[in-house]
Amino acid sequence: MTVIADKNVVLCVSGGIAVYKSVELLRLLKKQGANVRVIMTKNAASFVGSLTFEALSGQPVCTGLFENNDPSIRHIEWAQEADVVVVAPATANIVGKFANRIADDALSTFMLAVTSQVILCPSMNVNMYKSKPVQRNLEILREDGYFIMSPESGELACGTAGPGRLPEPEDILDRLISCITPKDLRNKTVIVTAGPTREPIDPVRFISNPSSGKMGYSIARAAEQRGADVVLITGPTNLPDPLNVSVVRVQTAGEMADAVFEQMKVSDIIIKTAAVSDYRPKDPEKHKIKKQKDEITLNLLKNQDILKELGKRKKDQVLVGFAAETQDLEENAVKKLREKNLDIIVGNLIGGSASGFGSDTNTVALFHKDGSRESLPTMEKDAVAHILLNRIVTYLKNSM
Ligand code: CTP
Repeated sequence: MTVIADKNVVLCVSGGIAVYKSVELLRLLKKQGANVRVIMTKNAASFVGSLTFEALSGQPVCTGLFENNDPSIRHIEWAQEADVVVVAPATANIVGKFANRIADDALSTFMLAVTSQVILCPSMNVNMYKSKPVQRNLEILREDGYFIMSPESGELACGTAGPGRLPEPEDILDRLISCITPKDLRNKTVIVTAGPTREPIDPVRFISNPSSGKMGYSIARAAEQRGADVVLITGPTNLPDPLNVSVVRVQTAGEMADAVFEQMKVSDIIIKTAAVSDYRPKDPEKHKIKKQKDEITLNLLKNQDILKELGKRKKDQVLVGFAAETQDLEENAVKKLREKNLDIIVGNLIGGSASGFGSDTNTVALFHKDGSRESLPTMEKDAVAHILLNRIVTYLKNSM
């Protein structure tokens, strides 16, 4: 169900301290359903044994050209069959070999035969990384079509600080998916709202809901992977910013409304995943409310329905809403679709651990403006995001 399910991925590991992160990358790739083959340099195997990679990939690991008297030319077959290749970590030495077409071990020989997209994740000492020869070699590889992922800045194993750290495995996976995803949303601007809003009662309390923001962040990430310019307008969440996405952080429904209406002017697609508070305290207290009375009353005012207003203002944008319901899903979702002038509404029944707030998976049904509907099985929110975007792409094609 994921973009890289059943794809042939070759994970190339050269010898740096960050090899331990490649193990996690391999685990994430397997979780996505990819068929992963691992090629390691001898130095990499000194940091983490090949057996670890073998056990996790479920395949023999290639560490040498003539290992175990194996007569097969595995490195050539793997290069021909690869849908995508990722080198993580890539040491200064292996970068130099690739750039200068040196083939003196299994990994560098394999690379000469690769025709698919290569994602290279340099990871080394900061001075090595910034040095002219390494930068020159990276530039050669960039010109050759390699996707070079910038290393992260921070403390390095050698005791120095600066750019040189291997990016987090989740971010490498994200770029890998992006490299093999068709860019069917290029030149489109997508606004996604996500997370809860917080409506202050006093300076230390607020009305909110348990939305984690995961669904909206998955959509923002997926749209970016498909080439869109993405603006993510989000309430408070604990999630890291998706790569290459412009993130606008808001607290209240009012702030979210201002941000959405501002961005709407330049958008082609608006997807409103956010769980917006329907009401806000009428007169938030300036100071913390003290617990004196046994009973207090909170007067609430209705917030503007942002999506309904978007439905009124919309010109040729595709407008998508979400409906989280505890009962009568179809009836409620279709009512919202009509009343808010939407093109698609994504409905889900909340409750249960496999769906809705906070969960990594979601069970949704899509209701379309033309009256059609489809129920999707429970799946990762990332997969739901891509299916929703598939439908939007079809919608855009049909309305041209
Ligand atoms: N929404 C919005 N502004 C609001 C309330 C909701 O933009 N003030 C949007 C949500 O982002 C979502 C859709 O409307 O895309 C449906 O939200 P939901 O909370 O399911 O429904 P409501 O319209 O608020 O109706 P009700 O709470 O009565 O079910």
